[in-house]
Amino acid sequence: MSFCDLALDCVTKLQPYVPGKPIEELERELGISDIVKLASNENPLGPSDKVLSALAEASKEVTRYPDGNGFALKSALAEKYGLNTDQVTLGNGSNDVLELIARAFVSPDEEVMFSQYAFAVYPLVTQAIGAKAVIAPARDYGHDLQAMSTLISEKTKLIFIANPNNPTGTYLPVNELEAFIAQVPAQTLIVLDEAYVEYGEQDVDSIRLLKQYPNLIITRTFSKAYGLAGLRVGYALSHPEVADLLNRIRQPFNVNSLALAAAKVALTDDDYLVKTKQHNDAGMSQLLAGLDILGLSAIPSKGNFITVDVKRNGEEVFAELLHLGVIVRPVSNYGLPKHIRVSIGLEHENQRFLDALGKVL
Ligand SMILES: Cc1ncc(COP(=O)(O)O)c(C=O)c1O
Repeated sequence: MSFCDLALDCVTKLQPYVPGKPIEELERELGISDIVKLASNENPLGPSDKVLSALAEASKEVTRYPDGNGFALKSALAEKYGLNTDQVTLGNGSNDVLELIARAFVSPDEEVMFSQYAFAVYPLVTQAIGAKAVIAPARDYGHDLQAMSTLISEKTKLIFIANPNNPTGTYLPVNELEAFIAQVPAQTLIVLDEAYVEYGEQDVDSIRLLKQYPNLIITRTFSKAYGLAGLRVGYALSHPEVADLLNRIRQPFNVNSLALAAAKVALTDDDYLVKTKQHNDAGMSQLLAGLDILGLSAIPSKGNFITVDVKRNGEEVFAELLHLGVIVRPVSNYGLPKHIRVSIGLEHENQRFLDALGKVL
């Protein structure tokens, strides 16, 4: 007997999410040190002193369960965005929330739509619940909202839009998004995944759309610009009824106490965010200038990463970079066999990548 015969069909067909290669794994495999990891769009600045002291303080209480309602963090988020706390759902990373949304709303005979080159978790959660994925063709590596509109059917329950998009970094202005959202049927939910929103323009006003469009859910995370990827905390902002449903199916303590404490402090640490953004802009310029010298170009990105056309097999370039101690991300699994994605690191890390890429090519 195989356990695959016992499992759900939609589960046996799943290809697991492939995370960026951890530094320790590469050290073990190749016996090399001084490795640079630019593979998971993390914040290279490390945690701020404020976050570190919040963690030290919170660690004294780890014998206790966390606040299962995340009251303090939800209140801080609600206040920041001018919403009510009953519009906030916390997750173990925004990944958790994305999955909760699919589980709460989509049944196997319904459709979930997302764009070609969209974030890998959308097809994963769709397949895990046995629903049908409808993939809209991309335009210039980004969302083609026109194409997406024409694919909406009465079976479309959920539409995922990442803005900026991962892995391509493409970005849609809020007014274009609004025009799209306005003509999506009320019974179709739209998830606007803004994992990288803090890297873009300062005054993104997508939150205001929540008032007008009850079928809109905005997800954000502390993993990227707030620098807390290892703690796993993200959230959804939505209509209160949607939040209520998501909160019914989440695990009672899905966000741990250290994550809750750190996120609350990080949310008010404006200096860290400003530094992060400045650092990201400088690193982006450094990488683009270096790529230009190598005769390469990247897809214009509003995130903390760029996806580079290496004009060669991206998996091979990735493997050769590994041997030089530089971990990037191949994106052939996204249908981009000649690209690699590189996260913006510290200045010397970016330089290591450029030098290594120059050698490889
Ligand atoms: C577009 C997008 N959404 C969501 C996530 C999930 O991030 P997390 O679960 O760390 O909040 C990521 C992470 O890479 C992402 O790129």
